[in-house]
Amino acid sequence: MSEALLKIADKEYKLPIIEGSEKEKAVDITKLRAQSGLVTIDSGYLNTGACTSAITFLDGELGILRYRGIPIDQLAEKSTFTEVAYLLIYGKLPNNTELGSWNENLTKHTLIHEDLKRLFGGFPKEAHPMAIMSCMIGSLSTYYQDSYDPENPEHREISIRRLLAKFPTIAAFSFKKSIGQPAIHPKNSLDYCANFMNMMFSVPAEDYHIDPEIVKALNLLLILHADHEQNCSTSTVRLVGSSLANLYAAISAGICALWGPRHGGANQEVLEMLNEIKASGKPVKQIVEEAKDKNSTFRLSGFGHRVYKNFDPRAKIIKKACDTILTKMGIKDPLLDIAKELEEAALKDQYFVDRKLYPNVDFYSGIIYRALGIPVNMFTVMFAMGRLPGWIAQWKEMIEDPNMKIGRPRQIYTGPTETSYEDAKKK
Ligand code: ACO
Repeated sequence: MSEALLKIADKEYKLPIIEGSEKEKAVDITKLRAQSGLVTIDSGYLNTGACTSAITFLDGELGILRYRGIPIDQLAEKSTFTEVAYLLIYGKLPNNTELGSWNENLTKHTLIHEDLKRLFGGFPKEAHPMAIMSCMIGSLSTYYQDSYDPENPEHREISIRRLLAKFPTIAAFSFKKSIGQPAIHPKNSLDYCANFMNMMFSVPAEDYHIDPEIVKALNLLLILHADHEQNCSTSTVRLVGSSLANLYAAISAGICALWGPRHGGANQEVLEMLNEIKASGKPVKQIVEEAKDKNSTFRLSGFGHRVYKNFDPRAKIIKKACDTILTKMGIKDPLLDIAKELEEAALKDQYFVDRKLYPNVDFYSGIIYRALGIPVNMFTVMFAMGRLPGWIAQWKEMIEDPNMKIGRPRQIYTGPTETSYEDAKKK
């Protein structure tokens, strides 16, 4: 099968079929408008492949997720976040020397410009950290105007390192600002995740004890979030990047897209929902009923996924990790019991079964973040930190494609047909 035949009225159009390495097939409609005058319409891109990509493979029916061919469970068990970042961005696992110099490079770029620090002072105390992150990441471009040209390979490399290295520093500073504590500078003796936890939780008066179990848990969570092919925020990064705006601008836009409750913002919503259930004392069965009620806008946060219609492999790993981590840390969290009860009730319910709604990656991640001491309003920032290498890898793949075109969808216009102008003064 190398061609599809499309018949419109009495005319036939031959459309090429392209096949991916996992035998997925797509009808290539690039030339359809030129040949027939027709565009295709697919609101929400339910059936539209926007690009070919060699980074991440997922099969929503079989619950498969692989980065550059490597199954997510293997990476979750054996790798570190910075190694996975290298894998996603450069297409292969680094050897020992490459990993060493990659980590060293990321360590050496963690400091932020002193003037950038002053920007934090302009935000109100209650500012959401995702708003601060998007603004700060976008503003990085103002400090590196001589080295952010996406078409220059050297500029690309330095921008990638700066972004990955400075993101945790900016994230931790935004948290410190929100609680009125002094910012803690990065320490070169610590690795990526340990450094982040230290910047979050140490204070000048007292060191923070870096628990290796916590560092391991953080690595795991970030790895599980590191890429998910053409989701809403990644597509945003690609779209903005396709105009040849710099990487900082594209990532800043991706952060905004991730913030929404239908996307990464769901991890914060899940925790808030579980807290509300606990406070209200409502039985979980009632919550499930409320989520089914079409007269209400309430949805079960952390349930359902556009692509996974069987199970989310990341949720499986996170659920198991949640039990292990909380046990190791000696934490008994009543929200975990409510989450498990809620999952059990929903999975038995015909509404959720019929619509193939399963817990997604966000359902249990918040409970682990809470155990690590991360405040609820920082959960989506943690997601963004994890997703950063994926956004970068997807942007780099697009920019390096010699056939890259600016992203520019079509539409079908449904407004008024030609209408004459009427002067307001004469009416
Ligand atoms: N609770 C209750 N009903 C739901 C839920 C839910 N969490 N999710 C979907 N449904 C219902 C919808 O009401 C709809 O019902 P209908 O067919 O009777 O109209 C049906 O299931 C299909 O839902 P859609 O919104 O059309 O599915 P879509 O694929 O567009 O949306 C999404 C997927 C946005 C993730 C959705 O499941 C949702 O809103 N979930 C809650 C928010 C969430 O957890 N988001 C995180 C996603 S994972 C991530 O971004 C990392």
